[in-house]
Amino acid sequence: MTTASEAGQPAIRTVNLVKIYQTGGLPVPAVRGVDLRVEPGEFVAVMGPSGSGKSTLVHMLGGLDTRTSGEIWVEGRRVDTLNESAWAVLRRQQIGFVFQFFNLVDNMTVADNVELPALLAGTTPRHARERREYLLGELGLADKADSAPAQLSGGEQQRVALARALANQPRVLLADEPTGNLDSRNTRDVLRLLGEVHRQGQTIVLVTHDGRVAGLADRVVTLLDGQIVDDGAVAPRRRTRGGAGDVVELRS
Ligand SMILES: Nc1ncnc2c1ncn2[C@@H]1O[C@H](COP(=O)(O)OP(=O)(O)O)[C@@H](O)[C@H]1O
Ligand SMILES: [Mg+2]
Repeated sequence: MTTASEAGQPAIRTVNLVKIYQTGGLPVPAVRGVDLRVEPGEFVAVMGPSGSGKSTLVHMLGGLDTRTSGEIWVEGRRVDTLNESAWAVLRRQQIGFVFQFFNLVDNMTVADNVELPALLAGTTPRHARERREYLLGELGLADKADSAPAQLSGGEQQRVALARALANQPRVLLADEPTGNLDSRNTRDVLRLLGEVHRQGQTIVLVTHDGRVAGLADRVVTLLDGQIVDDGAVAPRRRTRGGAGDVVELRS
């Protein structure tokens, strides 16, 4: 999908991005002038206290919430001005999203939930199935393929949602607390998969409270009251420890 005009562009860039919720008359500023730049292949963890605007920010990056002002660019293309259907196309083709709530389709099997985005994007059924088998296997869910989402625990549903978001091999993976409901063993599976796809070149922007998750990232961006208060590269530490995925394997 890359064209010459996209080469060298950041995967994501925001310019003075602002979100003010207007509910019940009183304006609530959730994101207050965020300038964020994420390079292709970079893994950025977004941290910060509850209410600091993390979910609002990643929702805007995925077109799930509209901005009040400012700009959002994805691979050199301005997207904050897109309408809902154009966003739907962009999400189908370029952006994978793991929500805090999993949004699985209840009357479809786990396997179909994971394969659907790839099929919608035009992948062959065989390739969609292979990718699904790989992702569910990595996440310890191979034996749940034929289950309905309602038969799964919260943690299992959360991992299915991650598999679904990665099914398309999206240019950018956006995730809002993807390990929020997981015990330590399942968190380790998720970390291993994130490390693996990151090594394969996956761009990731991920909200987390978990230091282990943030430890895999190239950079940690910290939000406070809707503003970036810290934007620290953690690359030097990563270099001395080898690849991100190796770290997880050493620990497991
Ligand atoms: N739909 C909404 N309507 C009104 N206020 C909201 C809405 N969503 C979030 N907020 C407010 O915006 C601020 C940031 O929220 P959020 O982005 O969810 O923070 P975080 O994900 O860091 O916990 C909070 O003050 C929250 O109450
Ligand atoms: Mg949140």
